[in-house]
Amino acid sequence: MCPEIRSINTSVTQTEAEAVVVGVFADSPPTGPAAEIDRATGGLISSLIESEEITGKIGQAVPIWGAADVAAQQVVLVGLGSADTLSTDVAFRAAATAARQLSAKERVRIAFFLGDNWPSQLVESSLAGALVGSQGQDLYRAEKKSFPPNEILWGVSSSDAIEAALESGKILGESINLARRLVNEPADRIYPASFAEKAAQVAGHCSLGIEIWDKQRLEDERCGAILAVAQGSAQEPRLVILRHHGAGEDDPTLALVGKGVTFDSGGLSIKTSEGMQTMKCDMAGAATVLAAMQAIARLKLPINVTGLVGLTENMTGAGAYKLGDVLTARSGTTIEVLNTDAEGRLVLADVLDVARGEGASHIIDLATLTGACVVALGLEVAGLMTNDDAWCDRIADAADAVGELVWQLPMFDLFDEQIQSNVADIKNIGAGRWGGAITAAKFLEEFVGDTPWTHIDIAGPAFLDKAQPWCDAGGTGTMVRTLVELARRRSD
Ligand code: BES
Ligand code: MN
Ligand code: ZN
Repeated sequence: MCPEIRSINTSVTQTEAEAVVVGVFADSPPTGPAAEIDRATGGLISSLIESEEITGKIGQAVPIWGAADVAAQQVVLVGLGSADTLSTDVAFRAAATAARQLSAKERVRIAFFLGDNWPSQLVESSLAGALVGSQGQDLYRAEKKSFPPNEILWGVSSSDAIEAALESGKILGESINLARRLVNEPADRIYPASFAEKAAQVAGHCSLGIEIWDKQRLEDERCGAILAVAQGSAQEPRLVILRHHGAGEDDPTLALVGKGVTFDSGGLSIKTSEGMQTMKCDMAGAATVLAAMQAIARLKLPINVTGLVGLTENMTGAGAYKLGDVLTARSGTTIEVLNTDAEGRLVLADVLDVARGEGASHIIDLATLTGACVVALGLEVAGLMTNDDAWCDRIADAADAVGELVWQLPMFDLFDEQIQSNVADIKNIGAGRWGGAITAAKFLEEFVGDTPWTHIDIAGPAFLDKAQPWCDAGGTGTMVRTLVELARRRSD
């Protein structure tokens, strides 16, 4: 299934493959491998640039067949944008664009010659991108439309650093694809117990510690909030704890917490049919956490990280929790339920409390939490909300470094009032629609105590309704790269 990856040091013109992918900049003449092909073909690339058939823009990939003196059947000229803005993110998207285009047909071998002597960060992220572009979402289509190549060759001048970058790029790409695949699987395949089993498989393969709490254990632990959400479903909830011990016993532990609502019907505050269509994606936070834990373990990062995911469906069965119910969360806080569709924060309330109990020094939670965050920031940008600006800044810096878009929303005290309840400690919705991403975060803040914590609302970027040049529609695996980057920085 997964392509085999190999570095090669033959020249781009002599590489035997069905396609060679070559990078071109938007504002400069062909360099490196593109220049070699240009010379071999008597200036073909220069003339295509001249006639503006090739723009070098990100998202463009132009195929040329039968180029003179080129061994490969096809040359794909992929845009790298402007030469002075080349970044890990551009490299990721360019490789993904070419790979996605080439995955339209079965191929044995494709080769990438994106640039001349790229540093290891660019090699790593472009290989990750190539793997992401190669995987589509047609899991259940009899006639597939997307085929990962059997073999990916990487044209580089090999060194230890480059070989390591190819290995880590493969780990990143496969981990992003794990998150995407879990999101793309329908809710009848990925439900709390099956997600937990998948987590156990992943843990087994990369030697992560794992603990799975079933319904009985959740009851013993008095996880009244997640249990309430699960009441309306025929599927029993789970809480999964994954442990990576890369540092010493006494070193701090980062906790990654994920919302794993494997299907969100809205419960009795039921969604519209249209609103429900993509709600298999409501476990994207949990998928991101599992994928990041896999990557951190396989990269053997010298840091302690605990991943915790709360898994449940939100359904309308006879036992469903009701509006007006008062729940007691694991922390002891009582919660008045005024909208059963604000279930993600209830799930996270208990999981965040478990993360505190695990002795986390820093917490990040990831959740497809609110439509309001999508209204505020659009489909491409994740919202950050925090009780500790310094911690939030470090996450934003890591996101910037890998080119994932995040933006901080304010946590002004005045929002606290909105979640005050008449009958319980707090209620699970704000006073109205406005500022809904923030009131949700204010609710979560009740459960983290003094621990530095940042909430990442990924309701926008976790799922693509329409395909992009670099990624098929469906799950995107957003934030896996940011979390890995952050874990790398903490272990520096
Ligand atoms: N899972 C949804 C949020 C969501 C919306 C994710 C769109 C991805 C795309 C969440 O559980 C939800 O339903 N939130 C409500 C909260 C409201 C009832 C306070 C919302 O955003 O409408
Ligand atoms: Mn909901
Ligand atoms: Zn939800």
